[in-house]
This record gives sequence, structure tokens and C-alpha cells, in this order.
Amino acid sequence: MELERGKVAVVTGAAGGIGLALAERFARSGLHVVLADVDEAALARATETISSMGVEALGVPTDVSSEQAVQALAAATLERFGAAHIVCNNAGVATMADPWTGPLSSWEWVIGVNLWGVIHGVRAFLPILVGQGEGHIVNTASIAGLLPGLTPAYDATKHAVVALTEDLYTSLAMTGLPIGVSVLCPGWVRTGIMDAGRNWPAHLGEAPPDAFGAEIMGNHVRRAIDEGLTPGSVADLVADSITGLRFWVFPHPDFVEVAERRWATIAEGQNPALLTDVPGLPPAEQLLTEVAALLEVPPAD
Ligand SMILES: NC(=O)c1ccc[n+]([C@@H]2O[C@H](COP(=O)([O-])OP(=O)(O)OC[C@H]3O[C@@H](n4cnc5c(N)ncnc54)[C@H](O)[C@@H]3O)[C@@H](O)[C@H]2O)c1
Repeated sequence: MELERGKVAVVTGAAGGIGLALAERFARSGLHVVLADVDEAALARATETISSMGVEALGVPTDVSSEQAVQALAAATLERFGAAHIVCNNAGVATMADPWTGPLSSWEWVIGVNLWGVIHGVRAFLPILVGQGEGHIVNTASIAGLLPGLTPAYDATKHAVVALTEDLYTSLAMTGLPIGVSVLCPGWVRTGIMDAGRNWPAHLGEAPPDAFGAEIMGNHVRRAIDEGLTPGSVADLVADSITGLRFWVFPHPDFVEVAERRWATIAEGQNPALLTDVPGLPPAEQLLTEVAALLEVPPAD
């Protein structure tokens, strides 16, 4: 689909990071933008930024984990613009809480935003796109959707987003409906995702503490993210994928190579190994040494 002046883009998680960069990219092509986010103050600032770019911007406070809120977002979009052409289900969060012995609420939060948020977004907007006979859906997964190994709840939701988006693509292709579908699978991008806990929802009670030793990996990931791609370059790639009708959006080819190597070991029936050679992270042996130092035990062979 062409990014034409006057068309309408909807972006969730649009108050910062990749979402704001997507909103800016669409605005630069003259599209009107509906920005949805749970952080109302940041959303107001982002909406102002997009308005100042000479297009119409509508900010809709939205918690994407709520079906009702996402349906209200679709209704607000139609009420203001009468159409939605590009829908980016992008909002996402990550946690360093202990997945196995910590509170279940960390799973509920991550699944609510990263998975239910995407499901609600597709279900709310797909009928609108189909009714119009044109449109494009972009779901933000992650390279973690093809490569588990760091954080279980996040990895699980991102695998699910890749799978459901691929199924969405094939079912639309089977019916011949002219709706484009893409899945965004970045590696490290310079955003505020490591501080996602700022949006911990009150209804889930107290935010769980980080897992024991989480700071070891957390510090490496923080540094990798700080040195990652700019959100703007990722947004440019998404825009190209929409106009080029490309399903897979891979901003980091080096991560795809790691995923390929993992698949080769799966095909050979090998048991999972520690993630090695992850771009931006130290080698697995160094991480093991750091963990061993924390536990004051000799490193494993
Ligand atoms: N930054 C990376 O390295 C990276 C890598 C791969 C995938 N991603 C994915 O990119 C997407 C965007 O994240 P980001 O990196 O820009 O992080 P970010 O924290 O900068 O932006 C996420 C946005 O989502 C909003 N948000 C959080 N909970 C929400 C909710 N319940 N409802 C609506 N909005 C909510 C936040 O307020 C924020 O504006 C996420 O899906 C993330 O998993 C990021």
C-alpha cells in the first residue's frame, strides 16, 4: 500500500520509542495519525509533536490489554477520520521479574500488553480494513519471537505474535483480501523498553521485584539497547515494508543469522544450548562467569 497524504495510520505505544518514530514517519508522508498509549502525559506530548508536522493527530489514551479500550480506539478513529489504513499494533513491555518463583502478575502484565494487545488490535481494526477493501497491519514482535533465551514471558508473547501474524497473513492471502500484513522483528533499538515498569498497572497490585541477579543481564541489555538502532531507522524500514508488501521486517540481519543457526540445531534434534554470539551481548562464558561470581561458586565447565 502506498503511504499517501490524507490516509490514516493508527499506532499503539505511540508516546515513545518505536511507536513515536512510526507516527513521525507516517506524518512525514502526510498521513493523519491516531496515537494510542497508556502513558497519558507522554501521549499528549507525542500528539502535539505530530500535530506540529502539518497533519491531523488524535491522541487516544488506551490500555491495549483491554478489549474495550481498543474497541473504543477503533471507534474514536472512525469518528474522527472515517477510516483507518495502517494499523501498527506496537505497544509492548518487558520484565526482569522472576518468571518461575515470582508473582504471576509479571506474566499477566506482559501477556496482556504484548499478546492480548495485538489480538485486540487486529480484531478491532481488521473489519474496518476489510470494509474499506484496503489497508495494512503491522504487528511488532521482536527477534525474540524467533529466538528465545533471555526472558520467558517476553519470548513467549513475541513467539505468539509472530505465529498469529503469519496465520493472519496466510488466511487473508487465501481469501484474496487486499490487506497487507507485516511483522516487525527488531534486535536492539534505542528506546525506553528497559524502563517499561513505569507503566506497571495498578490493578495488578504491587510491581514484582527483579529476579535475583537480573541486573547482570539487565545491564548488558541496557547497554546493547543504548547502542542499538535508532527508532527512526526502524520506522523507515517498516514504511518500506508496507509499500513493498513485505511480511518480514528484519532491521537486524545479524540476529537473523543467529536464529538460522538455532533452527539448524533444531532440525538436527539437538537439545537447546545457551544463547551464544548474540549481537551486542558478551559471550555466554562471560555471562556464566558473572553469574558464578554473584553466587560465589566456581563457574560451570
Ligand atoms: N527496543 C528494543 O530493543 C525492541 C526490540 C524488539 C522489539 N521491541 C518491541 O517494540 C515495541 C515498542 O517498544 P519500544 O522499544 O519502543 O519501548 P518503549 O518503552 O520506548 O515504548 C513502548 C510504548 O508502549 C507504551 N505502553 C506500555 N504499556 C502499554 C499499554 N498497556 N497500552 C498502550 N501502550 C502501552 C509505553 O507507554 C511506551 O510509549 C514493543 O512491542 C517491544 O517489545 C523493542
